[in-house]
Amino acid sequence: MHRAASPRSYLMCPPTHFEVTYSINPWMDPAKPVDVPLAVAQWEILRDRYVALGHTVSFLSPRPGLPDMVFAANGATVVDGRVLGARFAHGQRTEEAGAHLAWFRAHGFADVREPLHVNEGEGDFAVTASYILAGRGFRCVPLAHDEAQEFFGRPVIGLDLVDPRFYHLDTALCVLDDAADEVMYFPEAFSPGSRSVLARLFPDALLADAGDAAALGLNAVSDGLHVLLPQAAVGLFGPLRDRGFEPIGVDLGELLKGGGSVKCCTQELRV
Ligand code: ARG
Repeated sequence: MHRAASPRSYLMCPPTHFEVTYSINPWMDPAKPVDVPLAVAQWEILRDRYVALGHTVSFLSPRPGLPDMVFAANGATVVDGRVLGARFAHGQRTEEAGAHLAWFRAHGFADVREPLHVNEGEGDFAVTASYILAGRGFRCVPLAHDEAQEFFGRPVIGLDLVDPRFYHLDTALCVLDDAADEVMYFPEAFSPGSRSVLARLFPDALLADAGDAAALGLNAVSDGLHVLLPQAAVGLFGPLRDRGFEPIGVDLGELLKGGGSVKCCTQELRV
């Protein structure tokens, strides 16, 4: 199958103040030391990859005391130039939402909505050609799905996440081709009903196994051709190549200690 990359616009935030001092997901262990210079170096490689692939990267200023701000995908969802802000489930991240809203307002986005309901941006919203897929169960409340549907005017498909290791939709599902409704996901992260919904909507999806999911292999970013994903998810490379994609392994081992990888660090600005 012929694949083509399309130029993307991403928002990222450097891990200048990254640390693990609290635990709000099973990956986070405050007893484990974090090497900040290494986290920064790994993040810079990811940033440079995007630039080398021809994508546009904008930056949000990191703030001290907000160690999870590097996971920029969680701060908002942008579709058709409209910005739905985040409302974080945990108090430790509350202030990140305002930083994102301020950035969008300062950068010419006219339609910026401060949400009524708890949602963590692209952590739980994934955009395909036909739908917005929306996770719930850990960080996003069902009413946020209605809010997103009304705001974006696109059908929102609610999916129940059941495994605390995969607390955001973007840890369990990745959109590979957003022009053609093509995704990869880890079925066991979803309730039986949601699995059936996914099988019905995406009968040809690439299914990840437990090992690749545990390496956060689904926390990946695709431009339609290149798929940047955690390099430890070795089982996904062959199947991605078989489908015509070019997998690019990235080592974000330090950020994994916060429970995030490639996608968490990358918010897509669909303008
Ligand atoms: N420590 C962060 C949290 O638990 C990690 C967020 C990762 N981001 C993501 N898009 N899954 O909120």
